[in-house]
Amino acid sequence: MMLNMSLTTPFAVYVHWPFCLSKCPYCDFNSHVRHGGVDEARFVRAYATEIAATAARVPGRTVSSIFFGGGTPSLMQPASVAAILDAIAKHWPVAPDVEITLEANPTSVEAMRFRGFRAAGVNRVSLGVQSLDDAALKELGRLHSAQEALDAVAIARANFERYSFDLIYARPRQSLESWAAELRQALAHAGDHLSMYQLTIEPDTPFFGLHKAGKLAIPNEDLARDLYDLTQAICVKAGLPAYEISNHARPGGECRHNLVYWRGHDYAGIGPGAHGRLTIDGRRVATETEKRPESWLMRVEAAGSGLIVDEKLTAGETADEFLLMGLRLAEGIEPARYTALSGRTLDPKRIAILREEGAVETTTDGRLRVTLSGFPILDAVVADLAA
Ligand SMILES: C[S@@+](CC[C@H](N)C(=O)[O-])C[C@H]1O[C@@H](n2cnc3c(N)ncnc32)[C@H](O)[C@@H]1O
Ligand code: SF4
Repeated sequence: MMLNMSLTTPFAVYVHWPFCLSKCPYCDFNSHVRHGGVDEARFVRAYATEIAATAARVPGRTVSSIFFGGGTPSLMQPASVAAILDAIAKHWPVAPDVEITLEANPTSVEAMRFRGFRAAGVNRVSLGVQSLDDAALKELGRLHSAQEALDAVAIARANFERYSFDLIYARPRQSLESWAAELRQALAHAGDHLSMYQLTIEPDTPFFGLHKAGKLAIPNEDLARDLYDLTQAICVKAGLPAYEISNHARPGGECRHNLVYWRGHDYAGIGPGAHGRLTIDGRRVATETEKRPESWLMRVEAAGSGLIVDEKLTAGETADEFLLMGLRLAEGIEPARYTALSGRTLDPKRIAILREEGAVETTTDGRLRVTLSGFPILDAVVADLAA
């Protein structure tokens, strides 16, 4: 099956900045602390090189979204962000209404750079607030207080057209009452978007060791489910329903960048440990770059890119990925697109069973979507449909 790219098909660029001031004990993102400092100018040159190499593979695509993720991209100098945006604009046409998001940690030092990021072209920030409870922030290893985070949110609101912030819930000792109060307070400061993640215990993190040793009591499955349901109820009432399992927005406030992933469109992954999906000669290609920042840098300087995975996906793999990503969205998927990608049809018997169980539904325009009660068992639903 050959995939066609029209000029209006969304195309995103993800730029990974892999450095943080300190490592949070729950986080397994590709993020590193460098006490000796980072040669930022040298890294920025390498980003420009990798952008050029990637654009040569998928020339002429119009960039609809750019996302600086991390790590902590707000530790970058605004001039570095501007240089990377220039490199992108030099190699691809950029849509006039492009969404340019930068992830920021809500400390006062970083908030001081917001004006510079706006001048560089960033028009949306996503702040890692995580909690509005000082004791919880301390336990999460965060370097900011709740008040500092709220101050950063206010500065974000003053500088950017759009902003979002992240919260982590289902934390140790969290009750339904305390989460409800914290979430209502957060909603009073929210713009058009909020991300809320249930705390997950990731292997090889300090939290994993603590949890295994019985020193980190997180909510059991029933309480976690109640916290999830409560989150949905409060956010719907506040006008920010979930458009994806962990992401809430006012209508029109959805993060366009993330929609590119979940709707199965193409994105270029730039920087250490970045993943990409590109359509080349009608085939979807999965890319991945070297994770260790300094090794990535040397690879780019020697070979023009940090690619370590560059793999054509089969039609079946492309379709399964489409299902896995698309069913995370409240809007669900178009079964016809699944069929066009894979040459297979979704099994009507399996859909009927899942529908009877209340896990999926079909909309009046024929889309298949997971229901609110199906979301907590999404992995099982997808496995069932893809099998
Ligand atoms: C790359 S980080 C965000 C940017 C920035 N470095 C920060 O921490 O503020 C992306 C988000 O993932 C979430 N996250 C990371 N590890 C998590 C975990 N183990 N459980 C739940 N959420 C997690 C946090 O909410 C975090 O803000
Ligand atoms: S949560 Fe953010 S600040 Fe903390 S280690 Fe991960 S990427 Fe860095």
